Order: sequence, then C-alpha cells, then structure tokens
Amino acid sequence: MESQTLNDLFASTGIAREQWQQAMNSNTRIAQLDTPQGTFWLKKSAPPRGEFRYHALNFFSWIMRLSLLKAVPQPGGKAAIAMEINRIEQLTQSGALVPEVISSSDDWLLIRHAGDSIVNILKSADTIQCQRQYLFKRILVALRRIHHNQQYLSQAFIRNILLDQQQDRIVFIDFEDDPLAVMSLADAQARDLLLLINSTARFFINDQAFLHRCIQGFLSDHDPQVIETLRIASQRLQWVTRIPFQRLFGHDYQKLKTGILALNGL
Ligand SMILES: Nc1ncnc2c1ncn2[C@@H]1O[C@H](COP(=O)(O)OP(=O)(O)O)[C@@H](O)[C@H]1O
Ligand SMILES: [Mg+2]
Repeated sequence: MESQTLNDLFASTGIAREQWQQAMNSNTRIAQLDTPQGTFWLKKSAPPRGEFRYHALNFFSWIMRLSLLKAVPQPGGKAAIAMEINRIEQLTQSGALVPEVISSSDDWLLIRHAGDSIVNILKSADTIQCQRQYLFKRILVALRRIHHNQQYLSQAFIRNILLDQQQDRIVFIDFEDDPLAVMSLADAQARDLLLLINSTARFFINDQAFLHRCIQGFLSDHDPQVIETLRIASQRLQWVTRIPFQRLFGHDYQKLKTGILALNGL
C-alpha cells in the first residue's frame, strides 16, 4: 500500500506507525491494535492448512456419505485475505452482523473490534448456567437470521462468535474459506449448526435436554433440506456415542458425545 494511503489510515484510526510496524513484523498472525480511537485487529496472510488433516477429514466424510463433513479448503495467503473481504461484504449486504473492514491490501486486512469472546464468558466460573443458556439461545437466533437470508458462516465454532456488549448483539468473525466451494447451501447451513453444537456442547454436558430443545426450536421452521441433512448426519453419527471403553477417550470424547446426542431424534 502506498505510504500516503497508509498515513491516511494512521490518521483515521489513531494507529501509531511503530505500533503498525511491530504488528507487521511480529510472527503472530493476528494482532490487536489499541488506539485512542478504539480497538482494531490486523489479520495477516497465513499459509494454507496442512494436507493430512484435509485428506483424513475428506476420507471420513466419504465413508460416512456425509458431504457436510467435507474439509473446506483453506486457500491461505493472499487468496484467503481476498476471500475474507469478499465474504464479509456479502454477509454485510445480507444484513448479518460481521466486523467492519477498515482497510486492506493483498497481504492484510484491518477490521474494527466487534466484541468480546463468548467462549471466555461461557468458561468463566462467574457465569451462571442460565446466563450460558441465554447466550446460547441468542447465538441461535442470530444464526437463524443469517440462514433465513440464504447465508452461512465459514467456521461456526464458538471461538468465532463474539458478544458486542455495547450494542448488545452477537457478531460472527473469521471468513477465510468458503464452504460453498465444496458443498451445497443446505449442507453449509447444516454444518454451521453441527460446528456450533459441537464446540458448545461442553458447557451443557449436564444440560442435555436444554441443548436438544434449542436445536428443535432452531430447526422448527428451517429449510426441509437442512433438517433432512442434519437428521441423516445425526443418524449416521450416533454410533460414536455407543462405542465401548468410553472412559479411555477422555474429555474431548465426552464433548463430542454430548453434541451428537443432542442431535439424536430430530
Ligand atoms: N473484529 C474482531 N473483534 C474482536 N476480536 C477479534 C476480531 N477479529 C479477531 N478477533 C480475535 O482474534 C481471534 C482470531 O481471529 P480469527 O479471525 O478467528 O482468526 P483465525 O483465522 O486465526 O482463527 C478471534 O478468536 C478473536 O478473539
Ligand atoms: Mg478463528
């Protein structure tokens, strides 16, 4: 980017030149920039994801005949930056709450701070269970609205969902890949729910009935194709909850099991 444009950016955001240089030179991929005018996040280009995980997941998706479990290719580098800008624009136009892009070049993207990590709120010992339930219900409402507008997320894990406490709203982040590159819209929307449930289930291990009710509510007026996709996925995955010697698989297994059980009997 030309230095004049960069100077304009510094003037409009309050980012100091040294602060910018430091963020650019650091080996962390995403940097938080606090300024008197607010907080911004600098996202730099990253290499593509490892091939092995990609093939393993695609193999699993193939033997299970579940296209919604396909690995979504992560282009990495300049392509990922361009993809994220594109998807943020598309989602914004559809009315979804996503961060505002302040500026970008081929290799980086500067976005406005959009809220606090919901995972941290859910994890906190100060949070009581009904607050967790309330937050989760709000996330589902926000996601349902996105789906209603024929949109979908990229990686609907709870770590990519924020709470904007000032404006009291749910915001979604992280759009470096496009699931529609390898699956249908119905698959991508079903996948959103699957990723959300599986990344959140650990907070509701003793609250199975609640999770189940939420999913039923979420799907009650959803596209029949999305409901069918999830029903089939749930049926084909239930064996995971019945394997022997479950204690051997530890805590991660428990979380996965809670998520899959919550989808049972759709
Ligand atoms: N606009 C934003 N507002 C607030 N926090 C953000 C924002 N963008 C990123 N973050 C923080 O940085 C983390 C990583 O950003 P993300 O876009 O998810 O990149 P990655 O591809 O590394 O997962 C997020 O989990 C969140 O904590
Ligand atoms: Mg992320």
